[in-house]
Amino acid sequence: MKPTVAPFPAARLRRTRVSPALRALVRESTLSPADLIWPVFVRAGRGEQEPVPSMPGVMRRSVDLVARAAREAADLGIPAICIFPYTALEDRTEDCAMAWDPDNLSNRAIRAIKDAVPEIAVMTDVALDPYNINGHDGFVVEGEIVNDETVEALVRMALAQAEAGADIIGPSDMMDGRIGAIRRALEAEGHRNVSILSYSAKYASAFYGPFRDAVGASGALSGDKNTYQMDPANSDEALRLIERDLNEGADMVMVKPGMPYLDICRRVKDAFGVPTFAYQVSGEYAMIRAAAANGWLDGEKVMMESLIAFKRAGCNGVLTYFAPEAARILGS
Ligand code: PBG
Repeated sequence: MKPTVAPFPAARLRRTRVSPALRALVRESTLSPADLIWPVFVRAGRGEQEPVPSMPGVMRRSVDLVARAAREAADLGIPAICIFPYTALEDRTEDCAMAWDPDNLSNRAIRAIKDAVPEIAVMTDVALDPYNINGHDGFVVEGEIVNDETVEALVRMALAQAEAGADIIGPSDMMDGRIGAIRRALEAEGHRNVSILSYSAKYASAFYGPFRDAVGASGALSGDKNTYQMDPANSDEALRLIERDLNEGADMVMVKPGMPYLDICRRVKDAFGVPTFAYQVSGEYAMIRAAAANGWLDGEKVMMESLIAFKRAGCNGVLTYFAPEAARILGS
């Protein structure tokens, strides 16, 4: 349908912008705490939290404090929390065995959150990088990030997370065939109600820099992730990846990073009409925080504007480190 506009002055498009009341009536997108998924970093210890230098306002928390943070998030109306472990150096090995250990940091955090705050949905990260000595999301054999062997490990990792009580499995590794393999294993083991939110269109992005600091992977990563994450120049390929993951059993899909890839979000929503999420990644967060700290931007306004942009682009929700702060503003 082509929009019609009467000739001036019959149409004055400023009429519906004249007051807050009129603007509220014609607003096309809304943002609520229910649109937010909060990524949190877990570290060892008890009663411990430390700031992540490249992500001002973001903490690495011990398991007990992550559970407390989950309580605060739920009370703010945030429906889901996503766990990323800051793994000790001795737990990073070539065989990545800690990735599927039932008592690794992530799995302990899942259990602690589900104990303390059963109503919040816990999302996980499925990829080998926190446990891999070389920082890659898959096994490295003679310089190659091998696909099929990695998928077997990812299945074990996802099953351990489901056992621990995860509600949403989040494969972020970009291996081929992992959604189908994880879905089959979940069904076979009786985890019929565990959702998969696939990082389907995940780009090889320099915007992940501060995250790799936060999880201690910056120094570890040898080479780049270009043989498995997507080329930022591509768009049609994102649709193929999304369709493939949906056919393999993904319940929800993600585009990552967020703001530089809003065109992809829109295409995905228009093409498939499935629950679509974007990840406002660490570098996007750091840019806004840094500019605000310098007095160059109004941090709060830019935060809210960046979040509504995801809704306007067709996303159902967004993973964002701003989640508690944004929820507080939305609830006040
Ligand atoms: C790794 C993973 C990354 C992020 C989430 N999971 C980084 C990477 O692929 O190197 C990035 C999140 C962010 O930058 O906020 N599996």
